[in-house]
Formats: sequence, structure tokens, C-alpha cells
Amino acid sequence: MSAPMQRVTLTVNGRAVALDVDPMTRLSDALREELGLTGTKIGCNAGDCGACTVRLDAAQVCACLIAVGQVAGRSVVTVEGLAQGAQLSSLQAAFHAHGAAQCGICTPGMLMAADDLLARNPAPDEAAVLDALGGVLCRCTGYRKIVEAVLSLENPRPADSEFGVGARLAKVDGIAKLTGAERFGADAWPADALMLRAVRSPHAAARFTLGDFAPLHAGHPGLRRVLTARDVPGSNAFGIYPTGKDQPVLADGEVRYRGEAVVALVGDDATIAAISDDEVPIHWTVLTPIIGIAAGLAPDARKLHAHLADNVLVRGRVACGDPEAAQAKAAAVASGSFETAFVEHAYIEPEAGWARRVGDRIEIFATTQTPYMDRDEIAHVMGLAPTQVRIIPSAVGGGFGGKLDLSVQPLIAIAAWHLRQPVRCVYTRPESMASSTKRHPARISARFAAARDGKLVSAVFHGDFNTGAYASWGPTVANRVPVHATGPYAVPNVRATSCAVHTNEPPAGAFRGFGVPQAAIAHETMMDELAAQLGIDALEFRHRNALKVGSITASGQRLEGSAGLQACLDALRPRWRMLRAAADSFNGKGGVLRRGVGIACMWYGIGNTSMSNPSEMEIGVARDGTITLFSGALDIGQGSNTIMTQIAAEALGVAPSRIRLVTGDTDLTRDAGKTSASRQTFVSGNAVKAAAEDLRGQLERLGNVDLSALPEVAKGCVAMGTGRYDPPTTALDGDGQGVPYATYGFAAQLALIELDIELGTTRVLRIVAAHDVGRAINPTQVEGQIHGGIAQGIGLALMEEYQPGRTENLHDYLIPTIGDVPPIEIFLIEDPETRGPYGAKGIGEPALIPTAPAILGAIHHATGLRLRQVPATPDRVRAALRAMTP
Ligand code: FES
Ligand code: FES
Repeated sequence: MSAPMQRVTLTVNGRAVALDVDPMTRLSDALREELGLTGTKIGCNAGDCGACTVRLDAAQVCACLIAVGQVAGRSVVTVEGLAQGAQLSSLQAAFHAHGAAQCGICTPGMLMAADDLLARNPAPDEAAVLDALGGVLCRCTGYRKIVEAVLSLENPRPADSEFGVGARLAKVDGIAKLTGAERFGADAWPADALMLRAVRSPHAAARFTLGDFAPLHAGHPGLRRVLTARDVPGSNAFGIYPTGKDQPVLADGEVRYRGEAVVALVGDDATIAAISDDEVPIHWTVLTPIIGIAAGLAPDARKLHAHLADNVLVRGRVACGDPEAAQAKAAAVASGSFETAFVEHAYIEPEAGWARRVGDRIEIFATTQTPYMDRDEIAHVMGLAPTQVRIIPSAVGGGFGGKLDLSVQPLIAIAAWHLRQPVRCVYTRPESMASSTKRHPARISARFAAARDGKLVSAVFHGDFNTGAYASWGPTVANRVPVHATGPYAVPNVRATSCAVHTNEPPAGAFRGFGVPQAAIAHETMMDELAAQLGIDALEFRHRNALKVGSITASGQRLEGSAGLQACLDALRPRWRMLRAAADSFNGKGGVLRRGVGIACMWYGIGNTSMSNPSEMEIGVARDGTITLFSGALDIGQGSNTIMTQIAAEALGVAPSRIRLVTGDTDLTRDAGKTSASRQTFVSGNAVKAAAEDLRGQLERLGNVDLSALPEVAKGCVAMGTGRYDPPTTALDGDGQGVPYATYGFAAQLALIELDIELGTTRVLRIVAAHDVGRAINPTQVEGQIHGGIAQGIGLALMEEYQPGRTENLHDYLIPTIGDVPPIEIFLIEDPETRGPYGAKGIGEPALIPTAPAILGAIHHATGLRLRQVPATPDRVRAALRAMTP
């Protein structure tokens, strides 16, 4: 039964409006659905994320918590009301110049919170900014550039605009993120679109049968279709690897994790919202779930997948030399076991999109990190040829690996195909968290040894990774981790193994680092302990062992081109000494607060492990001289649109503003591969450079020919340059020997923390980060990636732990807020990569990896406590401190 409508009049962005709505409608929904003001975003509908922040009269409010009936006669300002026509407000301009918007999904909320602050306090200090913006979550930026932007208003900095590589060019696609014009997955839909909602399993393990849907249809005439596994036209199994397609679009008689989709309801919005899950006839036989790695590996464990011999999805291995013999002769041996938790991506944009059938093709507009993989997966699920599928990516409100897997896409595609009507789906926050992939929980054991001179002689490492119910990116993690298990150090004798284990928990997939952040906690603790045993300073110990050009890795690869870890450590050395001494002196005063400084290093192979991962690009010039870059490299907030434009501009010798972008659409661009593994700058950047050089060569050969007289060659262009780059790698043999990556990023970070030994709380006071990025194509964006990675590293170290059924929202699952991210000092080390475009490598993943081990090292320095489990929540820290006390 629909609620009675009422006329509500209010002022929105200075304009009087009258709405005929249910007065209980959320203000956010009224703004978006009734007035089309989709600049106000929905991240949680629960008051937790602040993405929906607007100004109501003189104060910022969460529009999702206010009923539209409450705002009758009042004045609302949304992000669309900030700019004067095409003229950005000074606040918006500051965000633009400082790179304060990455994906942009939180940006409207941030702007409105800052606008509220500035109305009250035109010259705020940092504390006032942190306070005023404290209710808005950002998962991309680490907040620091947002704070910088708000504080800069008295002394604004213009962004660079007319330069190529090395310039702090403002985002080429940044304006739409600042004005509310950007269209994310939930922001655009045809007027006749039906709504789809999946009904999901409340059980981690169960078998089920479906009953008769006729009563459901009879009770809800607006219900157009209930989709089940039988409605999947092609293969009801998807997955990243051709041999690992094990995940059903809709479960077929069995569910393997809580949150798995069982059926999908399709109908008008009100009907779909009105149907409760209890009305859907699903008859469950609940099974005892397999929870945790040990249960998955137990000899008598129930098998999750019939095609596997047991619950082991895959194993990985790298081995060289004789670690046991080397260890027997070593002067120092350190060992330990480590444990990490499921970590949720917590992108602020829940999964969303819509699909329509166009003849014998299906078109999907949705949030994704990988349009071409989506195209091929949808073709597989639909039983279509890839050419019958068009993916038009929406703007992506954060991904971090979590939007590499399919979410809404197959559901809306199947529904639209059968119903021949557009179908839309927007996940709720709990649905997003319950159904999406997570960072793999790890159980790691490590034993490293060093000689008297401080040189590492051996490393033995084993990591079990909980890959959850389905394969997803488990094989990638299992293969990447052993290669990185030594850390960025030369170790001549190594045995590093891994195992991905199925359980009845969420599928663990790709999350910024593919297992390397978990491994770094182990190898960096080993470095600290060996250094301490040998009486060598922890920074100098790392410096002595650092991989450099010419070093041989455990995979037998001789490093070429760029390996700037020692330069990173050199940059940190003065801060390391100064901060350690200051912390020691602070602790000398006694009291419950203790300070500590930790250091950690990392390396990260750029691109896919030991496999082809090419990128192809096109850039063309039209008769009127317009240059268009057709780029399939998806910008998920990290800034690849700007980076690709800068590289193209540099190669063509034109200003970036001359270049127009067409991105992502699989009908209009070539396959640039997925946005993950920190690969786009290096791989797609090389492809763009090659394409632009090809175009430049063609134009030079044409001389002074009048472009307008030339025939079109493709896509409205009279000359088209093409470029392709595939990083040179080789397959690894049974001992993991070969060339897994063409190049590696390196970094070292320091963390200064303050720990309350009575409460167990840890506050990060400062991070100093030195990153070898080869060449910073755009320093502002590189810094933004480092800030964002560090924020996620703080979350991994101190607070984030996803528990199915218990932390499926953003008030029980904590991510760092603006108050949790301290000042960050950055040293950009540019050790040029000879294979990189203008020397560049990648930064996405490297930014996060050293942060958690640096914080753990700082906790040890502060307290003597060696924590081997993250997150280091106050209760864990307190319990461990108590256990230390004799
Ligand atoms: S959508 Fe309103 S606070 Fe998250
Ligand atoms: S820029 Fe803040 S969530 Fe992406």
C-alpha cells in the first residue's frame, strides 16, 4: 500500500520547489529522484558516511536522515548550488587545484560540510576543519588534500594547466566531480527502468529449494519477474580465471556464504521496496559452515566445490638455494606467526547500474574497474558473443580492487534481456558489504636469518590465505605473495609458499596489494627483529639488504632499470633519527602515553604476475584539428584520465587542454586491461605514448596537408595513432623462477605513534613516506595516491576487521576518518624506469603496503610489544600489554 502523498514546498538552491511526495521520503531521495539533483550521494542511508551532506538553512545535515516533510518552508543548498553558472566557487576551485577529489563520490558531502564551516568561520584553522568535516568519510584521498584545500582559501593556488609530464595538472575530468554533474552508477537511469533487488542468503552455508512464486506475484502486482538460476541464459558461473569460473550469478540449490544472491525480484520501485525477504518462498536446510583457515584445511572438512580435491584452491611457491643450510650458519634467526583479518573495501559508492537490451545486444552502464573483463564475463553468462555486449562504465566511486569482480552487471543484464525493458539496481550499504569481495585474511609463518655482517642469508615463509567461498582473485594472491615474501631485500636462499583455502566466508578477492600488505607485516617484523639481534639500526639494516639495480630476486630475476629503495631510505634517515630520539625523550618522562617510531619498506611488481597484460590505445585527430584519446583505461579516482592525457600531450607536443577523452566504453575504445595491480600508468601509459608517437609521425609525414581535406579513417578522425604495450614477463617454473614483472615500485615509510598504555588506543601522529615512482607524471596525483594508501594502511593496522553479519555497515565497520589521518610528509624518489613512459612506474598499491608494518614497529618502539595480529584494536593491545607484564 503506497503512503499518502502531500505537497511539500521548500527552497532548493535558491529556487522555490513544490513536491508531491510521501512526507516521510528521505530528503536525499527527494533531491535525487524527484528533482534530479544527483550531486547529493547515498553511501549508506544511515547517517554514517556523510556523502549526502547538504546545508539545511544554516547548518550541515545528512539528507538521508531527514524526512522531506521536515524541511517544508526551509532552505536547502546542495552541491549543485555552489557554482555560479560555469564559475566554480572559491572552495570548489581550491579542491580542484589541490587534487582534493579523487573518485569524487564523497566530494559533494565534503564541499557542503566545508561550505557550512566557512559560512560560520571564514578563516578556520586545521582543528576547525577536522571538526567540521569529521562526519564525511572519504576512502580515496586520506583527507590531507581536502584539509589543504580548505585551509588554502586565503591564499589560493592555481592549478597548472598547460603542461605535460611532471606538471601538477588539475584533473582533466575534475570539474564534474565538484559540481555534482558526475554520473556514478546510481545517478542515471532511463525513466522506464524497472528496479531489481537480489534476495540474499542469511546463512553462510545452506541448501535450499524454491517454492511457488504465484502467491508473491498475486500479492504484488507490480512484481514483473522473479529471476532464479534457471533464468541465466548462458553459464551460471563466473570468475576471473578461465579455469576458475565457480561463482553462480544466482545460487543453484546451495549457498556458500552469507550474502550470496539466491533470487532477484524485478518490478516497479515501490513494489520491490515493499516486498520483504520473508515473503519469498526459499526453504533452507542450514549446514554447519566452514569458518576460518583451519576449518577449511581440516582433513575431514566438507568440500565446498566438487571440482576440487579438497578446499585448497591453489598453492604458490618460490624457492632458491638452501635456506635450512644457510640458516644453520647464520648469526641471527628471527621467526614468528602472524594473522590478519578480512578487510572491506568500503568504497563510498555502493555497486549500482542499469542495463538495456538493444536488439540482440545488451548494454550495461555500471560502476566497474574493468570494462573489458566485464564484457567477456557477461557474454559468458548470457551465452552471447562478446561483440553483443557493450559496457559503458559509469564514474566509479572508489574501487580498490573490489569492483574488479562482477556485482550488479549480470543481474541487470539477465533481467533486461528477458523483460526487454531497462532494469536498474542499486545495492544498499549492508548488501554491498555482505556480497562483495574482501582482503584475504592471512595466517603467515616466517623465519628469516642473517649473517654477522647484517646480510640476509635465508627466508622461509608460508602464508595461508582465506579465499572464502569462491575463487575470485585467490590465484593472483597465491602467486603474487611468494614472489614478494622476502620483502624488497636480496636473500640468496628462499622457500616461500602460499595456499588459498576455501571457506564459507565472503569471497576474498583483489584489494590494493593482492596479499602483499599481509606479507609485508611478516617480513618487516623479521627485519626489525634481526636488526635488533645484531645490534644494527633498523633503517641501516634494511639499507644494507635493499634490492638495487643488478640484484637477483628470489625468483631469479636480475633487476634492471629502476630500484630506488636505498634512495628512499636515504631520504628518511634524518627524520628517522630525529623522530626516534624525540620519542625516546618523550617516553623518558613516564606517564600513560608512550611514543614510538617504526619503519617499513616494500616492493611491488607492477602489472599482472607472469602473464601477458597488454594495453592498447588509439589517439586521433579530426578534420577540425580536435585530438581525441580513445582510452579503455578506467579512471576509478586514481587519476589515469589525467595521467594518460599528460603523457599523450607530452608525446604529441601539445597542451593537455587540446586533448579530448573518450574512456571506457567498450564500443569506442580498445582493451587497456583492468585498472588494478598499479598497472595503468606503466602499461597503458606506454601504450598511450606509443599511440601518440604514431600519430605524431603520421602528421609529420603529412607535412602541411590541410586536415579538412583528408578522408576519415576511423571514429571521426582523419589520422589515428595506435599503440600497444605488454610488459615483458615470463612464466614461472615450479620453483617460481622467471621474470614475474617488468618493473617494481619501492618505498619506505616511517610512522610516529602515540599509545595509551591504559586504554590500549593508538594514535598515528605523523607519517613520512618516501616512494620510488620512477617519474611522477603528476606529483599532485602521486601524493594523493600515497595519502590514500596510507589512510587504508592505518585502517588495516589499527581498526578494520570485517565480520560477516556483524560489521555490514559503516558504523560497526570502522574506516579512518579525517581525524585518524595525521600529517604526511612525502619524498618522491624518481629513479627513472627505462621501460616506463617517461620513466614512470606505478603508485596505487605501493602507497598502502608499508604503513601497517611501520605502525606495528612504532608500537614496539613505544611499548616493547611485538603484535603479530592486526588490527591492533585497543582490546588486543591492552590484553597483549597485560600479558607482557610479569
Ligand atoms: S548516505 Fe547519508 S550519511 Fe551516508
Ligand atoms: S574521493 Fe573521497 S571517497 Fe573517493
